[in-house]
Amino acid sequence: MQHIKIGVGLLGCGTVGGGVADVLLRQADHLEKRSGIRLELKKVLVRDMTKPRSIPASLITTRPEDIIDNRDVQVVAELVGGLEPAGEWILRSLKNGKRVVTANKYLLAHRGGEIFSAAADARSCVCFEASCGGAIPIVLALTRGLLANEINAVVGILNGTCNYILSQMTQNNKPYATALAEAQQAGFAEADPHMDVSGLDSGHKLAVLASLAFGADIRPADIDIQGIANLQDVDLSYAKELGYVCKLLAIAQRQDAGVSLRVHPALVSVAHPLAGVNGSYNAVSVDGSVAGRTVYFGRGAGAMPTASAVLADILEAAMGSTAPLFASHPLLNNRRPMNVISPTEVNTRHYLRIAALDKPGTIHEITGVLGRHQISISAMTQHESKVGAYVPLVITTHEALDGSIGKALAELSQLSCVSGAPAHLRILDDYE
Ligand code: NAP
Ligand code: HSE
Repeated sequence: MQHIKIGVGLLGCGTVGGGVADVLLRQADHLEKRSGIRLELKKVLVRDMTKPRSIPASLITTRPEDIIDNRDVQVVAELVGGLEPAGEWILRSLKNGKRVVTANKYLLAHRGGEIFSAAADARSCVCFEASCGGAIPIVLALTRGLLANEINAVVGILNGTCNYILSQMTQNNKPYATALAEAQQAGFAEADPHMDVSGLDSGHKLAVLASLAFGADIRPADIDIQGIANLQDVDLSYAKELGYVCKLLAIAQRQDAGVSLRVHPALVSVAHPLAGVNGSYNAVSVDGSVAGRTVYFGRGAGAMPTASAVLADILEAAMGSTAPLFASHPLLNNRRPMNVISPTEVNTRHYLRIAALDKPGTIHEITGVLGRHQISISAMTQHESKVGAYVPLVITTHEALDGSIGKALAELSQLSCVSGAPAHLRILDDYE
């Protein structure tokens, strides 16, 4: 039987583009056997022609028009990253009748509405499975598999670099800087790793996933974002002692008054399915009105896991089945605004580590501040110490408003029996 042939152009040949090119060149027969489509790599855009690469020199170009204006290219995969020129290249490709695939969550989080509407106008599509969760088919789950559900919550570990760093710090006592350098070496990190450790990359992915989950227009500016760069080893040790592991979480939760959106490190109970997700793995837990909780798990970063998602999207785009969806799918186009709840209104459990003066009356003063802000203590730990006047006092609380905790922390740091600002992390217990 004659299979259809589809010309593919890659914008970018770094970690992800290099992985995609490798599979296209070496496993085209296998892809054809599984999909009935013959993918032919026509051109690959790079910035620097002198870098050594494992693809034929004849395929490499530094001119984007060799792909965007190339009649032999039907599917363009944007794997360059950043807002521009990636955005302009995607829009030009759509105008030229190409179908587009992208792994660029940064761009989609900021300009997804504009790009999806351009795809609808061009009767084309922009497939973006690789933008969130690496190899995990989470976009497919939200747009198809869970379509019958009202989504109540999406809670994810969405950044492989941060999860790798936290796992190495917790399990192997590696310093933060060593673990980050290893993540960069392995190709997990963004070109600018600040995107990862600041929590911004998780925020971009949460904007993409929450927009799909709620059919809402959610932007990075709607999300309260905190990263992992200021975490202290001592808090990771206390977490272990108390039955938790520290993870960078991205959380979108529907509440009566709107949606709460946040990215922050949190102590996750070892009973929670996300607690066992280590290294560059990602996982997303979705709470749906019909299905209940479903959890998706897989490698969240790196060349081949991401190439798997990009190639699935290239085949999907080649089949043309996604294009009709773009004009009419309310999760992709014509999204509605949604009220975003202030971070101060979020109710959760908290972990506090306070450097407390080892003298009579200290606990009374500290618990007095917490009590005045309606914060109820769940547990309190202070190890015996013979060194120093200040000792770590670790407190976990029952549910309390973030706003109340913020006020209490400001007051605590002013007490003469407390040294410096207390460490603060939110707690996620298992919810079933
Ligand atoms: P990367 O390794 O930095 O590769 C970027 C590629 O784009 C390089 O080939 C670079 O050319 C090319 N490029 C950059 N600017 C260019 C310009 N102005 N003109 C022409 N070529 C240009 O990045 P990556 O890690 O593969 O990530 C690519 C995209 O995938 C990003 O959106 C990223 O967020 C996303 N993503 C990455 C991963 C991951 O695990 N790395 C996973 C999921 C999604 P040279 O090779 O000549 O420098
Ligand atoms: N830098 C990203 C991460 C790549 O570490 O998760 C995958 O999107």
